[in-house]
Amino acid sequence: MLLRFLVPWMLFFFFLLCFDSLSSSPNQAPYALRLSCGAAQNVVTKPTGTIWHKDFGYSGGISTNATHPSYITPPLQTLRYFPLSQGPQNCYNFDAVPKGHYSIRIFFGLIEQLGNSTEPLFDISIEGTQTHSLKPGWSTQDDQVFAEAIVFLTNDSISICFHSTGHGDPAILSIEILQIDDKAYYFVPGWNEGLCLELLRD
Ligand SMILES: *[C@@H]1O[C@H](CO)[C@@H](O)[C@H](O)[C@H]1NC(C)=O
Ligand SMILES: *[C@@H]1O[C@H](CO)[C@@H](O)[C@H](O)[C@H]1NC(C)=O
Ligand SMILES: *[C@@H]1O[C@H](CO)[C@@H](O)[C@H](O)[C@H]1NC(C)=O
Repeated sequence: MLLRFLVPWMLFFFFLLCFDSLSSSPNQAPYALRLSCGAAQNVVTKPTGTIWHKDFGYSGGISTNATHPSYITPPLQTLRYFPLSQGPQNCYNFDAVPKGHYSIRIFFGLIEQLGNSTEPLFDISIEGTQTHSLKPGWSTQDDQVFAEAIVFLTNDSISICFHSTGHGDPAILSIEILQIDDKAYYFVPGWNEGLCLELLRD
């Protein structure tokens, strides 16, 4: 009984320690990349004035105009889609991303020329691990028009891949890679980063 109570708390504190030991030095601004897929130029969106970097890091695909499945979708005009003729797996790869703890958010788009009825279904993997699988009807549900994951980067590159399932071409509107600052967590020296990663992977 006591163990059943204690173990979740021990794990909780262990996670906090892991987050802390993996975060960047306090002098560095947290890394933030907001990418407008398919965009030839940087884009500034209203009313927030958010700056979206022009498209880069893709392994292939085609840029075209987007329609937005939801009011929460960022107001970006373009997307990048990956026709099956280019192979069932297509990726974005980003280098020089500092090691650390990140929130990754990916918004999906619909290809404007095809109208709103063509909703592609595909899978997403981050750093080689499948994280999301789009379900039929996603484009009509506000909470399914994007995918979000929290990841630890152990080296300075990140890969995000889209896998066709034979139901339309994966179409990506935006990718956000935002470093999470968790300096506020309690810190006990002596915890080993490698150990944290091993456990988090399980
Ligand atoms: C995308 O939209 C722009 C502006 O509305 C238009 O000029 C362009 O022809 C469109 N491109 C495609 C591929 O539909
Ligand atoms: C697609 O949906 C959007 C938002 O609901 C709408 O503004 C747009 O006119 C639709 N486009 C087509 C081709 O049906
Ligand atoms: C970075 O780490 C991931 C996960 O361990 C691995 O899959 C990937 O190959 C590594 N990339 C490089 C460039 O070493």
